[in-house]
Amino acid sequence: MSDGERWGRYYDAVAAKPPRPTLLHALDRFAAEGVPSPNVPPPFALDLGCGDGRDTVELLRRGWKVLAIDATPEAIDRLLARPDLPKSALLEARVEQFEDFQPPACDLVNASFSLPLCSPEDFPALWGRLTAAIRPGGRFAGQLYGPQDDWAGRGITIHDRAAIERLCAGFQVEKLDETVEDGTTALGKSKRWHIFHLVLVKLPACTFN
Ligand SMILES: C[S@@+](CC[C@H](N)C(=O)[O-])C[C@H]1O[C@@H](n2cnc3c(N)ncnc32)[C@H](O)[C@@H]1O
Repeated sequence: MSDGERWGRYYDAVAAKPPRPTLLHALDRFAAEGVPSPNVPPPFALDLGCGDGRDTVELLRRGWKVLAIDATPEAIDRLLARPDLPKSALLEARVEQFEDFQPPACDLVNASFSLPLCSPEDFPALWGRLTAAIRPGGRFAGQLYGPQDDWAGRGITIHDRAAIERLCAGFQVEKLDETVEDGTTALGKSKRWHIFHLVLVKLPACTFN
């Protein structure tokens, strides 16, 4: 089965699922801070590895402007065909790989169950670009995988707890939940999951007088 066919089956399996809790956590924190606000331009989110758009739709529904990217063309086709996609001019969706992505300045980087699929060689530079793109007070929301995950050693990016804590430098940690559990994949295969669920707030740059 090709990668495209495998992702197509994944999109069938997760169709109509609700937005991810990490995104909802970040959006609720923004809302408590008055973001979005009716009198200012909409805040801007990047949805990385958007899949068929469960998180993109929620961002648009709440008044955010969104750039959604995914390496699989079918993901973008499915996102743009969703009947619940708000009729909004605030979405740009394109087929793009993390490894080549040059993120624009933004208020939120959302990456639900997607960034571990960046190649391990390219992940450090990608993380550097993403953290530089988030404005002070902006957030990162998403998941990374740990070494006990069954997919560790299969070419995906894995972080142990110490590496996760290093990635959090320059952020205030709002959520860092580590889970290890036996479960199933979206396609129904048995799998041990080792997941870090993250919501991080970008700190202002240090200034020295
Ligand atoms: C597990 S799905 C997650 C989709 C969605 N964010 C969700 O939470 O359901 C991972 C997505 O990342 C995309 N992806 C995988 N590798 C990628 C890469 N190197 N660059 C960009 N997208 C990638 C896949 O096409 C897939 O749609």
